[in-house]
Amino acid sequence: MLEGPAAKPLVGKRALVTAGPTFEPIDPVRGITNRSSGKQGFAIAEALARLGAEVTLIAGPVFLPTPPGVKRVDVETARQMLAASQAALPADVGVFVAAVADWRVDEAFGAKLKKEKGGPPALTFVENPDILATLSASGPQRPKLVVGFAAETDHVEEHARAKLARKGCDWIIANDVTQPGVMGGGENAVLLVTKDKTERWDRAAKDAVAAQIAARIAQALA
Ligand code: CTP
Ligand code: CA
Repeated sequence: MLEGPAAKPLVGKRALVTAGPTFEPIDPVRGITNRSSGKQGFAIAEALARLGAEVTLIAGPVFLPTPPGVKRVDVETARQMLAASQAALPADVGVFVAAVADWRVDEAFGAKLKKEKGGPPALTFVENPDILATLSASGPQRPKLVVGFAAETDHVEEHARAKLARKGCDWIIANDVTQPGVMGGGENAVLLVTKDKTERWDRAAKDAVAAQIAARIAQALA
């Protein structure tokens, strides 16, 4: 085990991590959401804190304990997650792990929709803000290192590389969610996609993947 400053290379650095799903209301009792346990994002927040970073974890609705030493901000919608992320700036690194709902109902109903009122409602969707792309383009406020995630079911590297360009981030950590045990499970097998290369990491527990990501972040910020 390392001790002293070498064990805590992120002392004095600020990190922002988004995690979990967002929940977009349809009416007071219904909504749309994404599948995300929040485990990978919480593990990354914990690993960054363990290396000494001052971490703000912006969490969608998940049932997970707050990692030790981490400041947690709970949110529900994508728009709240964006506002909380902007409020957490300045940061040296932003890690955007959340499974943000791409769309929301343009105007949520104030009262519960009733079944007997003439069949299924016609819902109109509008696109949510892209938190990762917005923070990547935040000018002087932009974290020095911006890391996005991509959960893909096919053409993983190709989609990840396209996202890296489209979102203006520095790294994309991509995973194939069709692999057994990834979605909601304890393991992850990821690709680290940067502007000039792709690394394929061995399948490992989400905690181990998080520790590896935190170590790479510490290296990049050194
Ligand atoms: N992301 C975000 N805000 C959004 C959508 C996505 O911050 N409104 C972030 C995610 O947290 C992740 C990355 O962008 O870090 C990629 O998310 P993903 O859903 O894979 O990308 P999309 O651009 O939404 O593309 P897709 O059509 O594949 O869902
Ligand atoms: Ca999406």
